[in-house]
Amino acid sequence: MCGIVGYIGDKNCVPVVIDGLKRLEYRGYDSAGIGMFNNGGISVTKVIGKVENLQQEVKNQGLDSTTGIGHTRWATHGEPNVLNAHPHSNNDGTLIVVHNGIIENYPTLKAGLKKLGYTFKSATDTEVLAHLFDAYLKSGYPFFEAVRRGLKDVEGTYGIAVISTKEPDRIVVAKKGSPLLIGVGEGENFVASDAASIVQHTKKVVYLEDGEMAEVFKDHYHTKTTDDEEVNKEVHQIEMTLEEIDKGGYPTFMLKEIMEQPESLKNSIRGRLLQETGDVKLGGLENVLDHLLYVKRFLIIACGTSWHSALVAKSMFETYLRIPTEVEYASEFRYRNPIVGPGDAAFFISQSGETADTLAALKEAKRLGALCIGVCNVVGSSIARESHSGVYIHAGPEIGVASTKAFTAQLAVFALITILLARRKGMSVEEGQSLVSEFAKIPETVRGILSQNDLIEGIAEKLKNATNFLYLGRGYNFPVALEGALKLKEISYIHAEGYPAAEMKHGPIALVDENMPVVFIAPKDATYDKIISNIQEIKARKGKVIAIATSDDENIDQLADYSIKIPVTRSILMPILTVIPLQLLAYHIAMKKGLNVDQPRNLAKSVTVE
Ligand code: M6R
Repeated sequence: MCGIVGYIGDKNCVPVVIDGLKRLEYRGYDSAGIGMFNNGGISVTKVIGKVENLQQEVKNQGLDSTTGIGHTRWATHGEPNVLNAHPHSNNDGTLIVVHNGIIENYPTLKAGLKKLGYTFKSATDTEVLAHLFDAYLKSGYPFFEAVRRGLKDVEGTYGIAVISTKEPDRIVVAKKGSPLLIGVGEGENFVASDAASIVQHTKKVVYLEDGEMAEVFKDHYHTKTTDDEEVNKEVHQIEMTLEEIDKGGYPTFMLKEIMEQPESLKNSIRGRLLQETGDVKLGGLENVLDHLLYVKRFLIIACGTSWHSALVAKSMFETYLRIPTEVEYASEFRYRNPIVGPGDAAFFISQSGETADTLAALKEAKRLGALCIGVCNVVGSSIARESHSGVYIHAGPEIGVASTKAFTAQLAVFALITILLARRKGMSVEEGQSLVSEFAKIPETVRGILSQNDLIEGIAEKLKNATNFLYLGRGYNFPVALEGALKLKEISYIHAEGYPAAEMKHGPIALVDENMPVVFIAPKDATYDKIISNIQEIKARKGKVIAIATSDDENIDQLADYSIKIPVTRSILMPILTVIPLQLLAYHIAMKKGLNVDQPRNLAKSVTVE
């Protein structure tokens, strides 16, 4: 949510910051801005909408500077207009700040600053920071110290970058609850909220932790805590490549990410499936394995698509491990005084590893004594670092706002965890071998499903004008119904609901008429006959049925208006397959409506505000 990029060195900062912001645009795209030193002062350029508008504007102005900071915004306080865009400056324009997060006590700070004579131009919480730092600067504190003292007055969350004409040889950055890192270069340094924005310049990064800040010069940097203690930071080597964060010839990131699922799934399971012994190896869980086997309860906590993975994981855990498992929305968990203790193990699922509610829930569960395990995609992310142990899903960078390949990789990792623990709880070698060998086929099976892209595009053409959709599934595939509905609504703006198929009779069936497409996830499993009855109930009311069925189903074509076939696999692995057609269906419907699937309105890739 919002992106920050800054540069200090000998080059022109403009292309570095603009290119970096483009890579962060998935985090927010309401407005964008850049500020840089210019003729002894600071020039600030801000625009509504995309970074490309900013690029054009900066080009028109012919700006060039060796130090600058930029921002792409997802509005929290104040509508998306130029005044509310970042950077925000002090009244004499000698200090600017870009900010991700929320300053909760900004009304109080604003009132105090107004009394000191500061005037405000925007409706944002961020503008108070510019004036607050200015007030300390004007009281005689050096730049870094002024920012540090200002931050001590602040309640809320922030990742910030600040520059001041008073000390133009540095960028000051700080972090609390919103990611911020330093990219370490040769004779140049970078600051960013996300490594993807600077990976083309350096692979060496220093992640700031909450309560840490830094002054970043062109050839060195200095880190401290906001309590004024020196802190030595480790330099991490990031593995992400530029190719991974480009579209690779696809028209959109979303299609690229859907289509690369055979590879992303291979990466998720690589080296983890032990064919001979019918077992699984997950290095990140080795030190907590015994603990996991004897916990009284599992909790799985997440938001959005990751929460849907959690629901699938609950079925996996309860079926194979017989350990009671509760799934929680992170935002609800943290505010309801949860009953959690040392007998619990809590899994925190997050693609980004930065979702504010999930991170806060993790801190709360940790405080209450639970064993906390992160299941993240972004290596080195806050949730990954804050957890006691964890498993990376290794899906590779996911840029499209609608999560696709991260979802299937999360499902794969939870299936791995299930087999790992089940083998230690008595699952036979033969059963382990059978599951592992079926699992190993999944990436290529997914490739086969993806080859039905044209068929699914044809179905999308027929359904693109519908205004409501129902998605129905049972058991392992009920969360897939929720996920299919979420995919459709977030990128096509069509209202869609997911339900357990049998629950349909208790209300949603009232919505069904000849205009209502109903997507059934109907593999031949234990509840197949019941699902067929549900399909007949919809047909009796003239609803249009789209069935995701298994290839061994010979009767479904007579019942459904459209059917998409997937190969047969074990139930625990089935959601990895059944979701693929739903991703493609949502994608094609949105594209046919002419919408921007990578950056749907009002959304941001990682929600780092509460
Ligand atoms: O990064 P996270 O997995 O923590 O993100 C959670 C949700 O914000 C995310 O899944 C969101 O629902 C996506 N837009 C779904 O496509």
